[in-house]
Amino acid sequence: MKTNFLSALFLISLGGVVLPLSAQRIDTTHITLCSPKAKAAVREVRLTGQLTTRGNSDFRQLRDLCWQLARLDLSAARVAHIPDNALHSRHRLQSVVLPEQLKSIGRQAFFACDSLQGELRIPPTVCEVGTAAFSGCARLTEINLPADSLQRIGDFAFSRLTSLRRVRVGSAVPPVCAPTAFEGIDLRRVRLEVPRGSERAYRAAEGWKCFFGDRTETLPEVVMPVVIPQPALLTLTGGEGFCFDRKISIEAAPELNNERTHCLRILEQRTEARVQTGAKGARIRLLLQSGLESEAYRLSVSADEICIRGGSAAGVFYGLMTLDQVMASTPVGRCASIPQMAVVDGPRLGLRELMVDPARIFRPVDDLKAFIAEMARYKYNALHLHLVDDQAWRIEIKAFPRLVEQGTARVGMDDMQMPISGYYTQAEMRELVAFAARYHVQLIPEIELPGHEVAAIHCYPQLTCGGKHVPIRTTCGVSNELLCPGEPFVYEFLGKVFAELADIFPSPYVHLGGDEAGMPPLAAWTECDKCKALKRSLGIDRDVRDDNHHLQKYLFDRVIDTLRTVHGKTPMFWYETDFREIQPGCITFAWRHGLTEAAIRAAQSNGARIMLCPGEYCYFDYPMAAGDMPEVNWGMPINPLQRTYSLDPAWGMGNDFEKTNLAGVAGTLWSECINSAERVHYQAYPRALALAEVAWTPQSVRSWSDFARRLPYVQADQLRRGICGSQAW
Ligand code: ACM
Ligand code: ZN
Repeated sequence: MKTNFLSALFLISLGGVVLPLSAQRIDTTHITLCSPKAKAAVREVRLTGQLTTRGNSDFRQLRDLCWQLARLDLSAARVAHIPDNALHSRHRLQSVVLPEQLKSIGRQAFFACDSLQGELRIPPTVCEVGTAAFSGCARLTEINLPADSLQRIGDFAFSRLTSLRRVRVGSAVPPVCAPTAFEGIDLRRVRLEVPRGSERAYRAAEGWKCFFGDRTETLPEVVMPVVIPQPALLTLTGGEGFCFDRKISIEAAPELNNERTHCLRILEQRTEARVQTGAKGARIRLLLQSGLESEAYRLSVSADEICIRGGSAAGVFYGLMTLDQVMASTPVGRCASIPQMAVVDGPRLGLRELMVDPARIFRPVDDLKAFIAEMARYKYNALHLHLVDDQAWRIEIKAFPRLVEQGTARVGMDDMQMPISGYYTQAEMRELVAFAARYHVQLIPEIELPGHEVAAIHCYPQLTCGGKHVPIRTTCGVSNELLCPGEPFVYEFLGKVFAELADIFPSPYVHLGGDEAGMPPLAAWTECDKCKALKRSLGIDRDVRDDNHHLQKYLFDRVIDTLRTVHGKTPMFWYETDFREIQPGCITFAWRHGLTEAAIRAAQSNGARIMLCPGEYCYFDYPMAAGDMPEVNWGMPINPLQRTYSLDPAWGMGNDFEKTNLAGVAGTLWSECINSAERVHYQAYPRALALAEVAWTPQSVRSWSDFARRLPYVQADQLRRGICGSQAW
């Protein structure tokens, strides 16, 4: 191996962490041969070996470990295929030289590499450019496709290249090019250069003709509406459809102002409609209707009127989300008209949740906003924020300023040696609450106890048994430090934290964690004098591990009591067998593989409710297929799309269980291995589409084959917006 290190060392300070940062260059055969430190510092890489493409490959390491990578030269590397997701969402990558003998470029290989700039040259040997391979590389100005060998350019391959000015193609015969390959680009500003004499062929060719002539697009009509989650009843009623290319008025009661704004946005994005107050003829009416369930709606479309009636503003909003998808049911995601129809719809389950984990890898507020706007399209109504864990504390608590001064910045998440920092101010969270409310999404905060609390213990050591000083965790896994239930400061701490949270988050729910504090970690309480004293005062006279669950119950009961009586909140927590009793009215989450049945029985026998998020169906941080991201993880199993779709949220327990005990379903996105906003979306979708249908649609209306038929339309519409879910299904 030959390795060159150039340039000097200098220091930067990021979120309180001082990092040695060197503008280094590595010239070697494989990046896998370099030291972790070199990978973390490198800016320029030139590789010359036969590159590996599977598992913890050269490409996975370039993407996830070389977090400062700006220039990548693979001209002398030997590799025939750039793998799917090779450099997915590497925002610092400015230039790439592709291998000379390259045959193909995988799906999403350079998705959202939005610092890639200047000219992109595809080697003449390349036969195929995969779906969304360069989508969102918004600073590329020129694409050079010199070859005769190019046979196929995939869907959205070069979409959203907003700086693109020139495309040069060397082949006299137009390569097969998906009609969406250059979607989301103003092609009036792009020059297509093709070999002399071949212009006519390009003018006539699918995927290329968009570069020529008359730019006014004729919008198609919607023939068959495609909606996810499938409405309970959608009937095409026949007759002339509702045409959008005309003046249209929107009539909405003042309490539906927010929904009116969404309606305007949808019309603008999907149609050529000219909205005019009081316009005669066509109208869209938004109404509240008493007698409908709160989130239910009715949508009717006739030749001159679209009417949405909701049981509440949320119901009207869901009617609009259905309308939006109906309008998007064309190859271009826009439409001239939609057929007459009647939709009768409402949710199967009350709580439809996704969970994000900014504790492991921070996500700025704008990323959360984008995530909320997307999930709301599929009628999710709760975003669960995992704000705290062993690796970070992410929410400002005014009573305990050290939490964000000392608990938010670290270097490293397992083998990814990058700085990770950030927290949400209370003002930012209030703004996010207001933003989410406009999408009818509530934010459910989670503060873990008694485990997964190392970041807080790091800042306030008196929270743990013996007042131990512990560093913030930089790896995944379970720490052995717990809050000390015998320490009065713990109750003062939690009391003030939950009081501030209750003031920020209006959701009726607060999540208390509770997971993975079981044995062996609960052993932390066996040797502690304060825990022993508490046990004695509770009449537990054995100082053995097996009795420690009484302390867990004592701690939870005190917190639950405060949350209920002082703040009027319903506590939630992750189900563990340590919870031998569950307080009536609480909500427990069934998450562990194989323990759903036990969690359901526990909830039923304790008069509690349950959220279903069994790992084997609902953990979206798991890869969706072998080889899919995250290729390197801590032993996660595969969680295929069809398995998620197959979840019966009532778990075969019947109507009584569904009505009395089942609160809803949740999909989780634990983020130990998810290192960009784009990858949060990648992991979430399309499984979150499947789970949306699990949560919303009556079991009798659900069908995997019909879902699979509808899915490509919705995924294409996501790609138009720059949201790329896994295609590995
Ligand atoms: C969990 O996955 N530890 C709830
Ligand atoms: Zn203790």
